[in-house]
Amino acid sequence: MQHYHIWVNIICLCGRTQITRCADMRPQIGAYEGPDFPSPVHPKMYTPNIDALAKKSLLLKKAFVQQALCNPSRSSLLTSRRPDTTHIYDLIHYFRRVGGNFTTIPQYFKQNGYMTVGMGKIFHPGEAASDNDDPISWSVPYFHAKSAPYFEKEHSWMAIPRSEYEQKPLPDMILADNAVRVLQTVAPAAKSGQQPFFVAVGFHKPHLPFVFREEFLDLYPMKDIQLPDNEYAPVNMPDVAWYNFSYLRSYGDISKLNASGEINTTFAPSVVKDLRRAYYSAVSYTDSLIGQVMQELDNLGLANNTIVSFWGDHGWELGEHGEWCKHSNFENAVHAPMMIHIPDSTDNGIITEQLTEFVDLFPTLVEAAGLKPLPLCPEDSTKTILCTEGQSLMPLVTNPNLPLKKAVFSQYPRTVGNQAVMGYTLRTQQYRYTEWPAFNKSPIYKPDWSRLYGIELYNHTDDPEENYNHAYDVSYVKIRAMLSSLLHNGWRHS
Ligand SMILES: *[C@@H]1O[C@H](CO)[C@@H](O)[C@H](O)[C@H]1NC(C)=O
Ligand SMILES: *[C@@H]1O[C@H](CO)[C@@H](O)[C@H](O)[C@H]1NC(C)=O
Ligand SMILES: *[C@@H]1O[C@H](CO)[C@@H](O)[C@H](O)[C@H]1NC(C)=O
Ligand SMILES: *[C@@H]1O[C@H](CO)[C@@H](O)[C@H](O)[C@H]1NC(C)=O
Ligand SMILES: *[C@@H]1O[C@H](CO)[C@@H](O)[C@H](O)[C@H]1NC(C)=O
Ligand SMILES: *[C@@H]1O[C@H](CO)[C@@H](O)[C@H](O)[C@H]1NC(C)=O
Repeated sequence: MQHYHIWVNIICLCGRTQITRCADMRPQIGAYEGPDFPSPVHPKMYTPNIDALAKKSLLLKKAFVQQALCNPSRSSLLTSRRPDTTHIYDLIHYFRRVGGNFTTIPQYFKQNGYMTVGMGKIFHPGEAASDNDDPISWSVPYFHAKSAPYFEKEHSWMAIPRSEYEQKPLPDMILADNAVRVLQTVAPAAKSGQQPFFVAVGFHKPHLPFVFREEFLDLYPMKDIQLPDNEYAPVNMPDVAWYNFSYLRSYGDISKLNASGEINTTFAPSVVKDLRRAYYSAVSYTDSLIGQVMQELDNLGLANNTIVSFWGDHGWELGEHGEWCKHSNFENAVHAPMMIHIPDSTDNGIITEQLTEFVDLFPTLVEAAGLKPLPLCPEDSTKTILCTEGQSLMPLVTNPNLPLKKAVFSQYPRTVGNQAVMGYTLRTQQYRYTEWPAFNKSPIYKPDWSRLYGIELYNHTDDPEENYNHAYDVSYVKIRAMLSSLLHNGWRHS
């Protein structure tokens, strides 16, 4: 049997001309219903296509991104290296310039004879972040939907009526049509055994602005929309943990509200509900486009030979904690959906609650496709062009209860006064633990653990929403010391 790849991912829109924050799909998907859902307060989600994919996939219910921002998260996933190795923490640097000339997932498949085709948002777009989509990764020129009219910054969300989108299709509609055409083009050579393919489809939604086809709004009647049940910042949260959601506040309709973004001030209930409803609608709209691509795979008779991976590049706060967007180390920002369909191996659906990381996708796809495995990166891998700082998740296909990691790691930078600070966080099955040390970018990219700007410790067993920071509680002294040492020792020892 032959394996091809299609790589549908949900993402964010970072307009081609604007440099903004981006990307945004939390596990707000039917398949995640239960304790792994990002909020206990939500309407029934309508995501039939992603749910169908989940039913035949390895569904990674506890997968965590390495940084809750597009470019850092994608650079990390695509190279299987963490932000302190890629040196990518923002939207304006390119890992090949500041990290090293690392081999990416599509590049590796290309080197192994695959036809690699990319479209939409896979790398963070633009000259600065990726030399325009990392040309070396692709066999043919990269595709972007040339349609700008829906990118303006006046409205944080818009439901587009049929009469309008039929005249002027939304960018992700153009992308789905292109994906269908590409599959038709690459199918014959793949089926005849001449050349397998790796097709990457990067949908932009549900990223801000939440723009979607109007009919999806009807799936979420206003009466079903609720406010989050934790509209306040965690008790005893250090200020450094907070993001003032300036990105959302930069949209015209939101800017007019004069919200300060300060801790414990959020929007009026009607605004919160409108945004939540629009986000759900944008998720369902994206689900329909994924369905269109999956259907074509089926029509072409490729579904049983094609490995499909699906992921969002990080989570999003939808008013939980009174917080919005990502840009933080909270669970809702770093927890994102990921699933992989491997024909024959996962057809009956495998659900795992084991802790996994986005750096694990590269070695997993490589093993699933039977390519030569990636070596573990050395301590300094600047000059090592091919290696991984993750591990293959294939053992979970055989045994989804196998604990692979004691803890998983993410990080987020801040500036306090003139001091660069890096929030390092880890998640064990029971706790989230975060320290915010001073951070020296030049020349060593290392934290100074002796200069902390804040500590957080959340007990997920009885506080999955992270509403109480126990870092300073006497009864948590022992567990805090254990978690602190786990954090300082880092991912290699977990
Ligand atoms: C990066 O590596 C590729 C091969 O993987 C090579 O073609 C390219 O020239 C290298 N670029 C730099 C700047 O070294
Ligand atoms: C935010 O509100 C919570 C809940 O009322 C409170 O415990 C916390 O101290 C407040 N934080 C700040 C910085 O005001
Ligand atoms: C909000 O945070 C951003 C950085 O994330 C900062 O540049 C900006 O000054 C902050 N705005 C306010 C009003 O504090
Ligand atoms: C926001 O501030 C502007 C300028 O001060 C003011 O004209 C407007 O009425 C304010 N809007 C709200 C909703 O408070
Ligand atoms: C694909 O696999 C599914 C499940 O194993 C099976 O029901 C279906 O008939 C297969 N389709 C083709 C075209 O082989
Ligand atoms: C975390 O919460 C669980 C459930 O309430 C409790 O059993 C456990 O002792 C708590 N952890 C600590 C360190 O107190």
